[in-house]
Amino acid sequence: QTRSYHEKVLDHYSNPRNVGSMSKNDMSVGTGLVGAPACGDVMKLQIKVDPSNNTIADVKFKTFGCGSAIASSSYLTELVRGMTLEQASRVKNTEIAKELCLPPVKLHCSMLAEDAIKSAVKDYYTKNPKAKQTDLGMSGGSMPKIEIEQVTTTRDTGA
Ligand code: FES
Repeated sequence: QTRSYHEKVLDHYSNPRNVGSMSKNDMSVGTGLVGAPACGDVMKLQIKVDPSNNTIADVKFKTFGCGSAIASSSYLTELVRGMTLEQASRVKNTEIAKELCLPPVKLHCSMLAEDAIKSAVKDYYTKNPKAKQTDLGMSGGSMPKIEIEQVTTTRDTGA
């Protein structure tokens, strides 16, 4: 019994799917940029949304991190393509870790992928508030933990 990475990790690591990036300025693109405090690794995940049904039409990622983080993001891109934003924001890192057979010490690597997709969906909603209303209705939903630089400033009216 070797202690090497599981073959699924190696497959995604040596042949990562959907590497790349999209224009942040595209209103149909949501960008998630997250970091893992435990190790300093960083993941950027972008989704392109079909506004007619709020599903993910395309996904790209760039990960500066370990093999498990790269494999997690690669697998995540395959997983969320075609999902609704609502479904994608409910993807759990445990699902990714299970598929890739990640050992406990590498769980935070898959957490990075969960944070990244939540953050990308949140960014899309910030850019397209109407989509959020449609998806979440009156429930309000739950807010992702990681904030990215999407600060809305309200101007003082000076009245
Ligand atoms: Fe940090 Fe894997 S060691 S993301």
